[in-house]
Amino acid sequence: MSISIKDAAGIEAMRKACRLAAQVLDAIAAHMKPGITTLEVDRLCAEQMALQGTRSATLGYQPPGYPPYPGHVCTSVNHVVCHGIPAAKPLKKGDIVNVDVTVITPEGWYGDTSRMFEIGECSIAARRLCQLTFESMWLGIGQVKPGARLGDIGHAIQKFAESHSLSVVREFCGHGIGQAFHEEPQVLHYGKPGTGEELAPGMIFTIEPMLNLGRRDIKELGDGWTIVTRDRSLSAQWEHTVLVTPTGYEVLTLSPGCQPQPALAAP
Ligand code: MF3
Ligand code: CO
Ligand code: CO
Repeated sequence: MSISIKDAAGIEAMRKACRLAAQVLDAIAAHMKPGITTLEVDRLCAEQMALQGTRSATLGYQPPGYPPYPGHVCTSVNHVVCHGIPAAKPLKKGDIVNVDVTVITPEGWYGDTSRMFEIGECSIAARRLCQLTFESMWLGIGQVKPGARLGDIGHAIQKFAESHSLSVVREFCGHGIGQAFHEEPQVLHYGKPGTGEELAPGMIFTIEPMLNLGRRDIKELGDGWTIVTRDRSLSAQWEHTVLVTPTGYEVLTLSPGCQPQPALAAP
């Protein structure tokens, strides 16, 4: 198996899938306030997907050895690293929440993106973690161009994170995406420059670093999905789906509600 190169029609189909995934996040932004439950967030996302004519890639998703995932999206609160299951517990002021949306278009293409939401006023530490994780994602994206290697992306993220005393979760990574949810390659968020697969125009993959305020160690909860930090420190994640272009990159999961690209990662 190798990394697929999307043709012009595939790229156009991915532009659509990814834009729609981003627009689901735009639709919930105004609702991310104290008192809303993550189950209500899940329902809002499901409604948006229905309006779009897309469907959730996560609902019923069942990799080998896992129970079927029960949410239309993942909602990961505070020390939950990823794959948090929507629940009836209201969010409170000071919580930080990742909402991770993956849609499938009627044509069968996947778009995958996640953002952090700050619920009401958050601590300086929480805001700093969210902002630095966002910047680390963009630093990784900034590495993307033909001839660069996957290790360049991981290294840029790891170096930046660790220079700010944040740790990089190792067990989960970005991934190729297209007519399947998770394709080759694995996009690690740590690594050595100049190593790994060489990037070529037409490749499409996600970059989705998970950074912790404390140690990088994680554990899985008994529900078979939820991943938390072992030391219960806060964790943040952002995710974009990115196309390798002849000259660099195109971020496919942009939408009007996206936070602007930070200056430090401008191409
Ligand atoms: N959207 C996640 C990713 O970025 C995967 C979630 S799988 C689920 O790769 F089953 F937990 F939803
Ligand atoms: Co995702
Ligand atoms: Co992903």
